[in-house]
Amino acid sequence: MYILGINAFHGDAAAVIIKEGKLIAAVEEERFNRFKHCAGFPAESIRYCLKAAGISLQDVEHVGISRDPSAHLHKKVFFAATRAAKQAAGGSVRKYADVATLEEGFGTLSNGSHPSGPGLFRQVRDRLGNAAKVRDLKEELARALGVPRSDLRAKFHNIEHHRAHLASSFYVSPFERAALLSIDGFGDFISTMWAVGEGNSIEILGQVEYPHSTGILYTATTQFLGFPHYGDEGKVMGLAPYGQPRFIEEFREIIRTEDAGQFRLNLEYFRHHAEGVDMTWDQGSPVIGRIYSDEFRRTFGPARVPGASLTDRERDIAASLQLRLEEVCFHVLKHLHQLTGLTDLGLSGGVAYNSVMNGRILLNTPFRRVFIQPASGDSGTALGVCFQIYNGVLNHGRGDEMEGCYTGPDFTNDQIRTELEGNKLAFENFSDEDVTKRAAQDVANGLVVGWFQGRMEFGPRALGNRSIIADPRRAEMKDILNERIKKREPFRPFAPSILEERVDDYFEQTHPAPTMLMVYQIKPKMRKLIPAVTHVDGSGRLQTVSRKVNERYYQLISEFNELTGVPVVLNTSFNENEPIVCTPQEAINCFRNTRMDVLYLGNYAIRRY
Ligand SMILES: [Fe+2]
Repeated sequence: MYILGINAFHGDAAAVIIKEGKLIAAVEEERFNRFKHCAGFPAESIRYCLKAAGISLQDVEHVGISRDPSAHLHKKVFFAATRAAKQAAGGSVRKYADVATLEEGFGTLSNGSHPSGPGLFRQVRDRLGNAAKVRDLKEELARALGVPRSDLRAKFHNIEHHRAHLASSFYVSPFERAALLSIDGFGDFISTMWAVGEGNSIEILGQVEYPHSTGILYTATTQFLGFPHYGDEGKVMGLAPYGQPRFIEEFREIIRTEDAGQFRLNLEYFRHHAEGVDMTWDQGSPVIGRIYSDEFRRTFGPARVPGASLTDRERDIAASLQLRLEEVCFHVLKHLHQLTGLTDLGLSGGVAYNSVMNGRILLNTPFRRVFIQPASGDSGTALGVCFQIYNGVLNHGRGDEMEGCYTGPDFTNDQIRTELEGNKLAFENFSDEDVTKRAAQDVANGLVVGWFQGRMEFGPRALGNRSIIADPRRAEMKDILNERIKKREPFRPFAPSILEERVDDYFEQTHPAPTMLMVYQIKPKMRKLIPAVTHVDGSGRLQTVSRKVNERYYQLISEFNELTGVPVVLNTSFNENEPIVCTPQEAINCFRNTRMDVLYLGNYAIRRY
């Protein structure tokens, strides 16, 4: 029995397919259409999933999407009615947007928004159009894949957004019983949901409703700090350690904690509750309108203009925001622990990409083990949809733990050779044994090494199959990578991949971090050994690498350790301001467009002389 899960009309569109509860393929649409965080319909991802499973769409028995327009409907109606009453009193024209957001449930907003006049009606029309597409997934799927609707025999499911998140962090976790938290921007009118998972069921214990949201708080502050793009929140997390949290009291006023794990935004600082959030993806990548209100300016002064130099004020705002996010999250988690008495946690939602916060959970809450699925954000809801249907709806028993994230396209050595010949490139060909030895030698020699192997990763992190590898011992490597390839803001750190069994030698915490979603402190005496992956506060966003999960990458790091005595390499994603490369040709293009020294593709290598 095949189940297809989809995240569509929402940031990070994705598709996942499972067979009898086993994960066959999981992939994000941005890797195919090359628009970062693409928010449309994941037609290419679905095609890939079907190809990987060796079936046609007609063979799929269940299809689900991580949206349910009918979920929490009474709350949406109440909220919209209250707002309409307020606006009637104030004479606002935004009542049309109310209708749209009522229909939409705020999970996904418009494609082509315009704030007023005829554009407002277009916005309403587009939003209603999106909601209709979510409701009639069958029609949309048949049209996108060019299959007659009458040929599809699958049963279609709408899985509420946070149930999909929660399912993605439980049914593929190693835990038979666990506390679960989805902490997010928004989906289906909810920002945060907690639950307990046991066997093949998930019981919801509590939630925080629109418009209160830690994700909205982080995005609004990120915008105010002059980082306007979808997904820029990670930059602010990287900036935070440079500052002091001298605005913590202001942020405690902006978001307040309440009893029973609840929290509330001070809505004077925000626009989303009154005016909606414009989210467009005319160009493929999502664009979000301004969320913060003028109250931010009154409190902190003028917003930073994107590209302007950073001052202590921005660093201190980032530090204060990060600290407050952690306080609020730990407040929810402590409540969840009190409710369940459990010490195993499944964590999901867009805010679970905050790896600094994640790394501190074990230090600040009673939880002792944490599972975070590699795509904890919205792409991962496609995975949650599959398992919610398989385990939760159809009542099947639990399957295997999800180890690794290598669920995307791969290419044989013959296919790679054909690409290299087609590009008229001189190449070397190595045995399985020699390819990791030679690559490790290149890394130790200070070269910037492209590493393209096996199946592409699911989720935002490159974890050793679509990675750029460098020597962490060389402090200058950060500047070299930024100058030659990544062109990132200089304050952003690069990450270490470390052999799993050596974590204790280098880090203050040893809980596994296989998906690079935990930041730990590096032991002070080791920081000088790996300066290129040590952040300004002595931390590192590590990936723990095991032979079982990625044998070739493990071997590469082992060979590097043989040469240098350091079981760590610098690992950054294989891209240049674009989605991570998917195909050999994209890797070759990136190699050509940047000043990478050598590129290993499977058992082949090309060098810049
Ligand atoms: Fe979400």
